[in-house]
Amino acid sequence: MCGIVGYVGTRQATPLLVGGLRKLEYRGYDSAGVAVWNDGVTRVVRCRGKLANLEEKLLKEPAPGTTGIGHTRWATHGRPSDENAHPHRSGSITVVHNGIIENHLALRQELVAAGAKFTSETDTEIFAHLIDRAMTAGAADLTTAVRGVLARVHGAFAIVVLNEKDPTTMVAAKNSSPLVVGLGEGETFVASDVTAILAETRKVLFIEEGELVTVTAKGAVITDFEGRPRQREPKTITWSALQAEKGGFKHYMLKEIHEQPRSVADTLVGRIGAEQDDVSLDGVNLDVASIRRIIFVACGTSYHSSLVGEFLIESLARIPVEVDLASEFRYRDPIIGPGDLVVAISQSGETLDTMEAVREAKKKGAKILAISNVLESSIPRLADYAFYTHAGPEIGVASTKAFTTQLVALTLLAIHLGRRTKKLSSERARELLGELLQLPNKMRDVVESGAQLQAIARRYGHAEGFLFLGRGTQYPIALEGALKLKEISYIHAEGYAAGEMKHGPIALIDEDLPVVVLAPRGTHYEKVISNLAEVRARQGKVIAVATRGDSNIGNSADDVILIPDSAPELQPILTVLPLQLLSYYVADFKGTDIDQPRNLAKSVTVE
Ligand code: F6R
Repeated sequence: MCGIVGYVGTRQATPLLVGGLRKLEYRGYDSAGVAVWNDGVTRVVRCRGKLANLEEKLLKEPAPGTTGIGHTRWATHGRPSDENAHPHRSGSITVVHNGIIENHLALRQELVAAGAKFTSETDTEIFAHLIDRAMTAGAADLTTAVRGVLARVHGAFAIVVLNEKDPTTMVAAKNSSPLVVGLGEGETFVASDVTAILAETRKVLFIEEGELVTVTAKGAVITDFEGRPRQREPKTITWSALQAEKGGFKHYMLKEIHEQPRSVADTLVGRIGAEQDDVSLDGVNLDVASIRRIIFVACGTSYHSSLVGEFLIESLARIPVEVDLASEFRYRDPIIGPGDLVVAISQSGETLDTMEAVREAKKKGAKILAISNVLESSIPRLADYAFYTHAGPEIGVASTKAFTTQLVALTLLAIHLGRRTKKLSSERARELLGELLQLPNKMRDVVESGAQLQAIARRYGHAEGFLFLGRGTQYPIALEGALKLKEISYIHAEGYAAGEMKHGPIALIDEDLPVVVLAPRGTHYEKVISNLAEVRARQGKVIAVATRGDSNIGNSADDVILIPDSAPELQPILTVLPLQLLSYYVADFKGTDIDQPRNLAKSVTVE
């Protein structure tokens, strides 16, 4: 999730590009760069780190000119470094890119064999080489060259391309990643979102899937990837700058809840094999035969995803798994050693307790696999192997899209292991991967059911406590639902394994206690329904999360939230969504500081 900008007009481009990038820094800040055309030459200035580093560099190496492109990076392919910073260049072509190119390795090999010299580890650089070659081979113009290249590229992208030989025209294209064009008086802007251009113009064209746009100072011409014209009326943006930063949502948390279908799709890109019955872990080469046991260490929400990971790996790969809170693990002199694979899950990659648990495990001879959302953060750097989620920066303190992408990463890991332990058949793997690919659409369906959750939140928002119940893979989701509610609404909430209820928490139940019961279709369904009846018999108010088509559940619950059907292994990724929305709306109803709840920090780097 990077940020891209472009400008063509009569004003100096660099201050406009940097101003736009400042608004896009929320999308990533591993490196930043600009390419600006002046007097027949495109000057590229770029460097690792936040935009402030680039601004400092630009003081020493100014980039004058009235046409340019810019980028702020969230690293996915290639570590954060000066060389991997965008824009990328080949010959007269410079390019900025947001997204992930699935077939970049094959294209890179082909280009290298044809003599191309790559200067970065990024997937993006293939665009620069391919477009430059198309121009050299005699493409009629930049638009034709870009169109030809897009036909060869698979994946998610928004790109802006600048040609040194014709600075009057930039070409941009979009497939899955966001792109917007801003129309000014004798000047035109391109950006990942409206925040980047709002200070300059409010007249915008939203570029849609599979569209290519030719941008000049006079405006923009939109076509599809085959060159057929697409008509679009400009829209006038009435959002305030702050509203725009949140994508029009009231809080970052709500925006991030809605981003989950995209983050999940991004986490899948390039990882499912051509036969669709196996998974590659981006070069993570585990010696699966030597793994005796897997131990997860993590904190908070990442601990909850680990608990789902335990189910997935034990069931699909039949490798024994233990899960430990990182803060407990590190102090209990754990019995581990060679043959153990410690999987450390951390969104930020910086959580101190998880980092120390990793150090302890390493000292004792275990191998470490880190699952993180931040490339080259401390925990992946400490680990033997690193596998990344592609959620993009998570700004709301309460974790949402990081959690669902962790669940996807764990499903991919479990399938990868299962295929190698031979406990998972090719047919079942294919079924599961097929279902995984359908998940983003199903998730979209659920996150759009906000109005129902808002109404439920209003009804129960006065409650002093909540109970969340689930069995099997839904038990960690009950824990996660309770954590979300606690941290942003400050209402006490307990997550419990539904079967444990009668061993204590049932005493809490009365007519004032809302009980959220996770009851999707599956092996535990009947038992969960019995637990639900026990709650109702004691006048508890039941909010059930169930599978669409379940005509029974309405008789046993006060409110029913229906989610699409899916393989049992993937249900947690769907059932957690209404719980995130519920806690969000309860907190919004109470008026708490949702994005920065009291006493909490996004990254806990102290004990
Ligand atoms: C809850 C939340 C925290 C984090 C925990 C671990 O919404 O965000 O519980 O999950 O602090 O953080 P990471 O995953 O960065 O190690």
